[in-house]
Formats: sequence, C-alpha cells, structure tokens
Amino acid sequence: MTPLEIAEQLGRNGLCVCPNYLSGQLLLDLHGDLIQQQSTGQFKRASIGQGSSKQIFDSVRRDEIFWWERASSNSTKNLLWEKLDSLQQALNRTLFLGVQSFEGHYAYYPAGGFYQRHRDSFPSKNDRIVSLVVYLNPDWKSEDGGRLRIYDKDQFFDIDPVGGTLVAFLSEAIEHEVCPSQSPRCSFTGWFKRAEPGE
Ligand code: OGA
Ligand code: NI
Repeated sequence: MTPLEIAEQLGRNGLCVCPNYLSGQLLLDLHGDLIQQQSTGQFKRASIGQGSSKQIFDSVRRDEIFWWERASSNSTKNLLWEKLDSLQQALNRTLFLGVQSFEGHYAYYPAGGFYQRHRDSFPSKNDRIVSLVVYLNPDWKSEDGGRLRIYDKDQFFDIDPVGGTLVAFLSEAIEHEVCPSQSPRCSFTGWFKRAEPGE
C-alpha cells in the first residue's frame, strides 16, 4: 500500500492494517538493531501516566522501551524515519489532521509480556492523533500469541504481530490491548501528534 492508500483507509475505517509495510531486508535490519540495543541494556521498563504520576504497574503493561531521537539515528533507523515522513505528509494531505510532530520508541515484550486494554489518547490531552505499530518479529508463529486486540464496544478482532506489518489507528477512538505473548515480541510504536514534543 502507498502512504496515500494507508491514509485513505485510516480515514474510512479509523484503522488500517498494512502487511509488508517494511521490505524483508529492512525488517531484518530493524530487528537486529533493536536486539543489539536491548541486549546491551539500553531499554527501560515502560511506565504509565505522565509527569509526577508516572508509575510502573506490572499488572497493566510489561514491556521495555527505547525512545528514538532523530539526532542519534543510524542508517537503518533513517530508512524508517523517511517512510514515516511520507506517511505524515499523506495524512495531512488527505485527512487534514494537522499532524506536526512524531514520537516513537522500540518496544520489547519479554515472554509473558502484555499491555491491558487501553486508549493511547484522551479528549482532555489529545495531542496524540494517530497511533502506529510496526511489528519487528521476523519469524512470528501463531502459537506465540501476543496479538493486538482491537475493540469495538463488546466485540473485538485480533491482529498477529507478524514482522513487517504496520497497524495505524486513530488514537482517541480505538481501544486496544496486547494479549500475553509466549515469546519475546518486538515492535516500533509511535504517535503522530498535534504539537511539538514538550509543548
Ligand atoms: C501501545 C500499544 C500495541 C502493540 O504501545 O500503546 O498499544 O501491538 N501497542 O504493540
Ligand atoms: Ni496503545
């Protein structure tokens, strides 16, 4: 799918699933980059809440993250940054969402990891407009679990975190959950935002 097609589907459905968003080579390179950083202790436990209310709750989420900074990128990360730039342009041209910035991190769920049902943004603090996840698991098997569960009131459907797949959705609208994963589960997760970071 082209960035335009992704944006259009997001506009129609509030959600877009795009298999093979990454080429096979970029998937392997990003997975290698993530594992190298995770295994050398550069990740930290993800928390919930903001500012002084920030806490780590084992019962809510159990993943480790590494925030990307454009200034300390490398050639592998730059290829994904460029794809995200194109997507941001397409979002602004087709959906007029007024996206001005982006923040994102690698996420590593150890075996047994999960993230309870939640939304990524709330009307009171609606700077996150579009959420996206790019899965970085080169050999994902169905029995590994770790599915992304998308809720629509009491109904839901699941998406396998197959390497190279992009899932994008409207941050305020879509409730979702990461089901327990039997194997380590790798992704890049990010948000297109209305304002510059820190504003
Ligand atoms: C998140 C999230 C989904 C996933 O980080 O907020 O919901 O499939 N991630 O990793
Ligand atoms: Ni989320």
